[in-house]
Amino acid sequence: MSDKKQDDLDYETTGHSWDGIKEYNKPLPKWWVWTFYACIVWGIGYVIAYPAWPLINGATPGLLGYSTRGEVAAEIARVEDQNAAINAKLAGTELTEIAADAELHTYANNAGSAVFKTWCAQCHGSGAAGAKGYPNLLDDDWLWGGSIEDIHATISHGVRNETDDDARYSEMPAFGRDELLEKEEIVQLTNFVQLLSGDTPQDAAAAEAGTVLFEDNCSSCHAEDGTGDVSQGAPNLTDAIWLFGGSYDDILETITNARFGVMPSWTERLDEAEIRAVASYVHGLGGGEASE
Ligand code: HEC
Ligand code: HEC
Repeated sequence: MSDKKQDDLDYETTGHSWDGIKEYNKPLPKWWVWTFYACIVWGIGYVIAYPAWPLINGATPGLLGYSTRGEVAAEIARVEDQNAAINAKLAGTELTEIAADAELHTYANNAGSAVFKTWCAQCHGSGAAGAKGYPNLLDDDWLWGGSIEDIHATISHGVRNETDDDARYSEMPAFGRDELLEKEEIVQLTNFVQLLSGDTPQDAAAAEAGTVLFEDNCSSCHAEDGTGDVSQGAPNLTDAIWLFGGSYDDILETITNARFGVMPSWTERLDEAEIRAVASYVHGLGGGEASE
């Protein structure tokens, strides 16, 4: 700092001086000071009116009784009120009639998409394409039937769960684990299933030998031609769409230890309108079948 500046007498000083260094008197601009005071007053008012000071279990409530939770609850109640009529209509409309009512159908599919993302996506994937053991709901390959009634029943009660007496149920025997078939026979069947699905079997002679074994042990559920049976949730084995994998090892594992896919029941957790909405949504994903 040059002396020249310090000695500039145009500047008023406060009269303080330290070793010859003087303090200029430069007060904050008035507008700034008043804004600052206004902020303090506003802050005090806010603390009185709104929840502010953190306490052990929550915060001081504030005189206005405002809470973000209360606001969300009010918003939910408002939307529920708004949708009450259409939800009642949805719950009361024949499943097969939903698609005929354009407004109801659009509402059901939108609401169903939201239900799906909340409750179903963990297992079936956010796009409903499924994963190993969790069926793809976009295609027209159905384990338990693809009409809106079938889908509604599957969703309502689930599959092989222990909580709903009306759950879909069937059990493929564990042919290897329970020693129903010899290891060699299971190998022959594995090759035969490869052949059935249009794949090239690892061992053509073994596949041939599997034909009779399939008729005797498998056709009661998977049908003589291997196309499956939706009344038992027995997959079509001819379409090369696999729930548990179609490699030689996967098929061998399925026949040896069987599979037991479980889906929860939804009647306790979702209301009828929500179940109908998500059934309509799934039916509309692309694979939905017409009702009989
Ligand atoms: C905990 C995992 C899980 C959740 C959550 C789940 N599912 Fe499933 N879902 C399954 C499994 C596993 C199967 C196949 C059961 C089997 O092997 O037969 C299945 C089967 C289905 C089927 C039958 C498919 C067919 O081919 O017949 C439909 C439809 C379905 N789920 C819809 C839904 C909907 C809608 C929801 C949400 C409300 C849902 N799932 C939530 C695991 C789940
Ligand atoms: C009592 C009925 C029943 C019998 C008998 C049966 N299955 Fe199954 N099978 C099923 C069911 C049900 C499933 C689906 C299991 C699930 O979804 O968890 C299945 C699944 C399969 C799969 C898996 C398909 C996929 O998409 O991943 C293969 C492979 C298979 N069975 C082959 C056989 C063979 C081979 C036999 C005869 C040795 C046989 N099954 C006998 C009911 C049966």
